[in-house]
Amino acid sequence: MAAETARPVPAPRPGPGALPSPSSLPGPGALPGPSSLPGPADALGPADLRRAMGLFASGVTIITGLDDGEPVGFTCQAFASVSLDPPLVLFCAGHDGRSWPRIRKSGRFTVNVLDEEQAGLCARFGSAAGRKFEGLEWEASSLGTPVLPGVLLSVHAEISAVHQAGDHDIVVGLVREASSSGPRRPLVFYRGQFGLDPDAEARAHPMMAPGLWAWADHWG
Ligand SMILES: Cc1cc2nc3c(=O)[nH]c(=O)nc-3n(C[C@H](O)[C@H](O)[C@H](O)COP(=O)(O)O)c2cc1C
Repeated sequence: MAAETARPVPAPRPGPGALPSPSSLPGPGALPGPSSLPGPADALGPADLRRAMGLFASGVTIITGLDDGEPVGFTCQAFASVSLDPPLVLFCAGHDGRSWPRIRKSGRFTVNVLDEEQAGLCARFGSAAGRKFEGLEWEASSLGTPVLPGVLLSVHAEISAVHQAGDHDIVVGLVREASSSGPRRPLVFYRGQFGLDPDAEARAHPMMAPGLWAWADHWG
């Protein structure tokens, strides 16, 4: 049998479904506010990455846990559904957070998905200042984890894996139960502010703080 000869592999050509290259991210005029994102040759710094990722609108959650009988929790935008069978969800937790090590120790968590009226809870749990559960009437889930009042959805899970990824951990949870208080409008986070206003980032700038979550510690 003739030996197979190695043929050069043609470079992939972008097809109709190809992912945009960094240079095809919104440029001048595409969106109001800061316009240029770094091209392929430039380093993508935290501020650039934050600005780019701000174009991804998401809901807002509060991840809660119970550690030695004390409720803990933090605001978390990086939440996603992962698998239906088995039912898995994930969230990403920064290494600087105080709540995450305690939630990790307890082995379980609840994801509290906020509705559009709950920006105050987002602020309260997104800040290192203040006592987060003070005056809050929370209930215990079937796993014992705190369910915050009036949330759109609560998902109760046991931690099944933790993957370190840069300055965050990717936390995978096996869902044991979920409950919803009925269809309402979710709190949406986009370009550093709530709501879907494309001008949002320009107005958010005065609140920006260093770090991926921009304005977290301007609350409380
Ligand atoms: C809208 C918003 C989204 C956030 N998303 C995340 C996130 O996905 N992961 C994370 O680790 N921190 C996130 N934070 C930051 C934490 O909530 C913040 O650092 C908080 O102070 C941590 O509290 P702790 O130190 O008591 O755990 C977010 C903050 C805000 C305001």
